[in-house]
Formats: sequence, C-alpha cells, structure tokens
Amino acid sequence: MSVSDDPLDRATVEAAPYLTGRAELPADKSIAHRTAMLAALGDGESRIVHYPGSADPQSTLSCVRALGIPTSVDAEGVLHVFGRGPGGLRQPEGPLDCGNSGTTMRLFAGILAGQRFGTVLTGDASLSGRPMRRVQAPLGAMGARIELVDGHAPMRVLGSRLRGIEYELPVASAQVKSCVLLAGLFADGTTTVVETTPSRDHTERMLGLDAVEIGGRRYLSVEGGRRVPAGLYVVPGDFSAAAFLLVAGSIVGEAALVLPGVGMNPTRTGLLEVLRAMGARIVVSNERTVSGEPVADLLVHSSGLTGVTVGGSIIPNLVDEIPILAVAATQAEGRTVISDAGELRVKESDRLAALARGLTALGARVEERPDGLVIDGPTPLVGATVEAFGDHRIAMAMGVAGLVASGSTTVLGASSASVSFPGFWALLDRLGGRA
Ligand code: S3P
Repeated sequence: MSVSDDPLDRATVEAAPYLTGRAELPADKSIAHRTAMLAALGDGESRIVHYPGSADPQSTLSCVRALGIPTSVDAEGVLHVFGRGPGGLRQPEGPLDCGNSGTTMRLFAGILAGQRFGTVLTGDASLSGRPMRRVQAPLGAMGARIELVDGHAPMRVLGSRLRGIEYELPVASAQVKSCVLLAGLFADGTTTVVETTPSRDHTERMLGLDAVEIGGRRYLSVEGGRRVPAGLYVVPGDFSAAAFLLVAGSIVGEAALVLPGVGMNPTRTGLLEVLRAMGARIVVSNERTVSGEPVADLLVHSSGLTGVTVGGSIIPNLVDEIPILAVAATQAEGRTVISDAGELRVKESDRLAALARGLTALGARVEERPDGLVIDGPTPLVGATVEAFGDHRIAMAMGVAGLVASGSTTVLGASSASVSFPGFWALLDRLGGRA
C-alpha cells in the first residue's frame, strides 16, 4: 500500500493485502471542545492532558483565547487554561472564527448568549451552510437575541439576561442539548433539557448533572449561577477516529490492529455493537475510567461480515460513524439498511449523498434514501477518483474503502481528514507496512 499527500490535496491509496500494528489515535474531539470551554469558565487554572492538535478543537481553543482567557502548553504538552470564573470572558476584538466546527459554534452560542457583551460567530463555507435555528430557538425562548442570515452563520449573539426554561429537544442533538445547558449556567433559575432519544452525554458528565428518567424521557437540569470548578482533564482517544480502523481492520484480508486508550462512552460506541452484530472480531480489554469517561484498549482482526439493519434510537450513538459503516456494508454479505439518519444531510457535507456518490464510483451497490442508505454486498470495489466534499469523515471513509478496492483510489480533498484525525494518511501507510 502506498499513500501519498500532494500539493493538489489528493491522497492515493492502493489495495492493501494486510494491515497490522498499533495505532495511536487522536484525542476525542467532542470531549476536548467541552474541556476547553468549561476550563475557560472555571475558577482558576485547569490542566488538559492530550488536548488534540486537530483543527476543530484548535478552533475552540483559539475562540477561548480570543475571549480573553490565557492558555499555555507546557513541556509535557499539557494544555493549561487559566479560567476566570463565569463572569471572566471579555468581548473579543473581532468575530470568533469557528472554522469547520459545528460543536464550537453551537456550544459557544449558549455560553455567549448570557454575557454582557455581543459576539459574532463565523465559520467556513461548510459551517455557514449548516442549520443554526436549532440553537436560536431555545436560546430565544430563554431571552437571548441571536441574529442569523437565513438561518445560518454568521451568527450575531447579543448578550442578554437569560431565564431558565424547560426545553424538549426536537432533534436528537448533543450540540443543541449542550448549548442550552451551557446557557443555563448564565440564566436566572433552573434550565431543564428533555431528551426523548439520548445523545452523547459528555457535557452532563463534566458538569456533574444527574439525569432523571421518567416515562422514556431524560430530564437534565442545571441551576443558573452554578460555578464550574477548575480541574484536571485527561482526554481519551477518539472512538470516532478508532471507527475507521475498526472497519479497516475488519475488512482488509489479513489484519490485526491494536488501538490503545479509546474512549468507550456508551453514547458513542453504537458502531461497536453494530460491527459485532455483523460478525466483526473486536476484543475490548483493560477497561478503566479516566476523567469520568470509560476507556479501553481495542484489538480488531479481519473477519467476514454480514449485512445489518440499523435505525431508531441507536443512530445518535453512531451518527458520526455512518460513513465508515457504509464502507463496511459494501464488504458484508447481504443487505444493510440504514434509516432514521436524515441528520447526516446537515453535517460537514450531505453525507448520505456524498457516500452514495463515492461508493457508487468505486463500484458498490448503494441506494440513497431520504433518511438513509441501502447497500447490497459484498461488492469487489474498483479503485477510482472520489471526492471528500470538504468533509473529514467522507475523506477517511473513502480512504478505507480504497484499502479494499483493486488498483488505486484517489481521494480529492484528502487534507480535510486533519479536522479530526491529523496524520490519518501517514498512519494508513504505516499500518500497511510502508512507513
Ligand atoms: C457532537 C454532536 C453530534 C456530532 C458531532 C459532535 C458534539 O452533532 O455529529 O460530530 O460534540 O456534541 P449533533 O449534536 O448535531 O448531532
């Protein structure tokens, strides 16, 4: 196998007969955003171990700094954030650039809605096309004033006095949930978010909120004025990054991959359940808890897979893993049906359309549906040129597909992988035996 980056932002992946070794993963992007934001609101100095260098968490960090919070990195690479308490943010000199990161924009919208100053949040072309009314609506109900352009960024957040509300999430979204809970820290009274379909729970874990479950609904409440203690956070390996290697290790003919220190929060590991149901051989060992999050080491061996039906309440627990699940499905015996996944149309790209385009170009049998995909396998894939559509997870999914496609697969826009997984292409190269 050879993978090469080039000035035209392409990566070329050759069919891989084997894949072996130990893969260090980038630290968890979702958790990292939250550690930086909560540390910025914390009383005093927090230390964050393994803060990732990937583009999205770095966007959050530069926003934290622009809001007047000093940060530094010590000789061991530990990030120090010198929080100034809930009233300690300062008006930034210009717009806050959230880059490609929806989590940065939506969670900061909640934090900034209750400040004494106004802020403008901007993002790249992809982020500027993503729906923001989903945070404008609950924040507006709390008394915030949020101005959008036709429902999108740039987002002008005018500092307002907020009041607590009870808000039932109309979409299963951890970003919206977290936005409202963070705004609740600055509101008068109690803010309650109600979830009917649970999504990733990192924010409530870090804030120490206990969920109350009544009649299939999950109630999360936060008191206005609650202080955030400064602390030590250790960010685990990103399960969403591991996902690409779990599928690569399952579908490449001769594979054995070790993935140490992977975050195993059950609201994130839906793909593990699904891959196992498909027949994947994945061993979980050395289970422990790090900074309130479950962590384990994973070992994956190649295996035959069978098609599976995926939909309903598991979708939020594997929402970011559907691109790579679709690649696995092309190599599985029988039909895979993915439904209830319409949210994929408003991610960094329209992922259902991007997957249908890319996988079809490689020779897979894929039917695109409004809320999912139907994939018939197994199909021998044939190398081709495919696009990342500016989306890190599409780039990496196509790269993994290239490992099992005959000949060469060229991914256009390959550098987008660094949004969540810097070094992805070099890692594929190393695991394939050519450093
Ligand atoms: C995230 C939540 C999910 C996920 C995104 C990260 C988070 O988005 O797709 O990559 O960190 O809260 P939604 O909340 O919009 O589903």
